[in-house]
Amino acid sequence: MPPQAKDDPDLETFIDPPIHLVQLSDFHLLDDPLERLESGIAPEVRLEQVLAEVLAEGRPDLLLVTGDLTHRGSQSAYDRVAGHLASLGTPWYAIPGNHDDPHAMRRRFGGELMPEMIQAGSWRILLVDSTVAGEPSGRLSPHAEARIEEALTRDPAPPTLIALHHPPLATGTAWLDAIGLANPELLMRHLSPARGIRGVLSGHLHQDFERVSRGIVYYGCPSTAMQFLQGTPRPATDTGRGGWRSFSLHPTGRIESRIHWVDFSDEVLR
Ligand SMILES: [Fe+2]
Repeated sequence: MPPQAKDDPDLETFIDPPIHLVQLSDFHLLDDPLERLESGIAPEVRLEQVLAEVLAEGRPDLLLVTGDLTHRGSQSAYDRVAGHLASLGTPWYAIPGNHDDPHAMRRRFGGELMPEMIQAGSWRILLVDSTVAGEPSGRLSPHAEARIEEALTRDPAPPTLIALHHPPLATGTAWLDAIGLANPELLMRHLSPARGIRGVLSGHLHQDFERVSRGIVYYGCPSTAMQFLQGTPRPATDTGRGGWRSFSLHPTGRIESRIHWVDFSDEVLR
């Protein structure tokens, strides 16, 4: 089948430049900036290095943080996250993960940094809080489902991304799949390219993940702190690198995306 005209890359030379979006995820900052995670790594030092690398590659148009900004949801950690991200000088937005305290996050960041929708050029991004208090797994709430349906009904045409912490697809790592989105069917029934949905962005995996299903691309994102090994039955970590994901969102609806890694293998763990 020939490509649709709106997806023709040749057309892109005549219209607006793409939006440069950076997805960051799973910082797991602790209460004390010098404290280390059980794996021996210092997550705040790694976040600072990753942010420096992001800037070195060119300031993005916007940053999206897909949850687990903190390890235990402390107010002091959110204060420091806000400071680190503000230092980049680019608009940023966040959704909570299972390690976060969504109420503490909203108290610190407010609705401006945690909106339900972002408009970026001709693109829109729907931000969904998939957390369930006290649970590692996630769930799409009736409220979130209603907001997605409302957004898609009101304005069905523009290219759209959905961002939520918990991935709605099984990814092949059994213990992570067991704590993914518990009711993916509720989300999936709204996802159609015909309604503008182009991609779904998640955190939680601490892995590079990308899969196309029914015309929609599902993206996982590395953690800035440490990665979970893929395909293992029980949690196993790779402490040797951190990373992020970048997107070029073209006004035609085309997405280019790739993973960026930062090598931490020389770091001494304690
Ligand atoms: Fe995480």
